[in-house]
Amino acid sequence: MRQIVTTRNGGIEVLELQEAPDPTPRPGEALVAVKAAGLNFADILARQGLYPDGPPKPCVMGYEVSGVVEAVGDADEQALLGKRVIALTRFKGQAETVVVPLPQLFEKPESLAFEQAAAIPVNYLTAYGLLIAMGGLRKGEGVLIHNAGGGVGLAALEIARKIGAVTYGTASPSKHDFLKNHGLDHPIDYRTQDWLPVIKKLTGNRGVELVIDPIGGAHWKKSYKALRHTGRLGVFGVSAASANGLKGKLGLLKAAIQTPWFHPFGLLNKNRGVFGLNLGHMWNEADKIAEWFEAIMAGVKEGWIHPHVDKAFRFDQIREAHSYIEARKNIGKIVLVP
Ligand SMILES: NC(=O)c1ccc[n+]([C@@H]2O[C@H](COP(=O)([O-])OP(=O)(O)OC[C@H]3O[C@@H](n4cnc5c(N)ncnc54)[C@H](OP(=O)(O)O)[C@@H]3O)[C@@H](O)[C@H]2O)c1
Repeated sequence: MRQIVTTRNGGIEVLELQEAPDPTPRPGEALVAVKAAGLNFADILARQGLYPDGPPKPCVMGYEVSGVVEAVGDADEQALLGKRVIALTRFKGQAETVVVPLPQLFEKPESLAFEQAAAIPVNYLTAYGLLIAMGGLRKGEGVLIHNAGGGVGLAALEIARKIGAVTYGTASPSKHDFLKNHGLDHPIDYRTQDWLPVIKKLTGNRGVELVIDPIGGAHWKKSYKALRHTGRLGVFGVSAASANGLKGKLGLLKAAIQTPWFHPFGLLNKNRGVFGLNLGHMWNEADKIAEWFEAIMAGVKEGWIHPHVDKAFRFDQIREAHSYIEARKNIGKIVLVP
């Protein structure tokens, strides 16, 4: 089988398509023939050497796939053979075959193409965790979604709309028409202006009840200022650091230095909460993930969740796929197909 290898830290030139033997499933695992694999911002950061959760290099990245079960590790699991599935993979998903522990395997709804199915796990579980499980977003509340046009951003928008929240979203201006057509109430250009006074003005100087922020560093401080009483800030990424070589390392350092401290007395007196979410640290919470996934699948069935795939790149176009995301061109998800 072929797999996408990040050979070392660096630019897109470190990405290679290499041959490898098919992995063998052990009892409690299944071998999935991959039809589509998700590409996430974490894969970009890992390539740049800025993702502490990534495996040592050379490595095969990939947190999520859709495909067909081709083999099982246990004769009792034969019924799974040929099933169309969605899987969470602890790396190695960007390959033609991958071994997956059975609790990380879910049935693919017939209504979704393989490309759409691979766009679900990371984006929607993250958005569900931020908005529902931890953010407790309620009908009528205001939510500010940073990077609203990205993979997690669009998933969050769909969930926020279903809840009946008032939606504010920052994104590059080229994405605003798309976002408005997808129901974003207030798109905000954060590339050419300071977004904080804009959201203050839009909310009568009050702010919003929930902000989800994957930018990191000083941006978290600003997002905190956008909260009204009972407001919650969910932090979940450090996109601000993304860059190759020394620039990336300095970016990460700058983000670390500028990261705000939130004092309990400050939270108490302002009626605010701050929380973090890292899906990559929830592998031991299979029950929770399964519960969230079930709720997302119910949304697919009910028709209010429509994963938007901007583009599917072939495995041999992996370098173009990384460049596309780094150039901020994607609206929603990028997937890779063998
Ligand atoms: N903690 C978790 O469990 C978890 C899970 C998933 C994702 N995340 C994080 O959430 C963020 C979004 O992830 P995603 O996979 O959905 O990606 P994405 O939002 O689709 O990523 C691309 C978009 O990010 C925006 N962006 C902001 N700063 C950027 C920069 N320095 N370089 C390039 N693009 C930048 C751009 O949109 P605009 O130009 O419109 O701003 C770009 O189009 C990332 O920080 C990721 O690490 C965290």
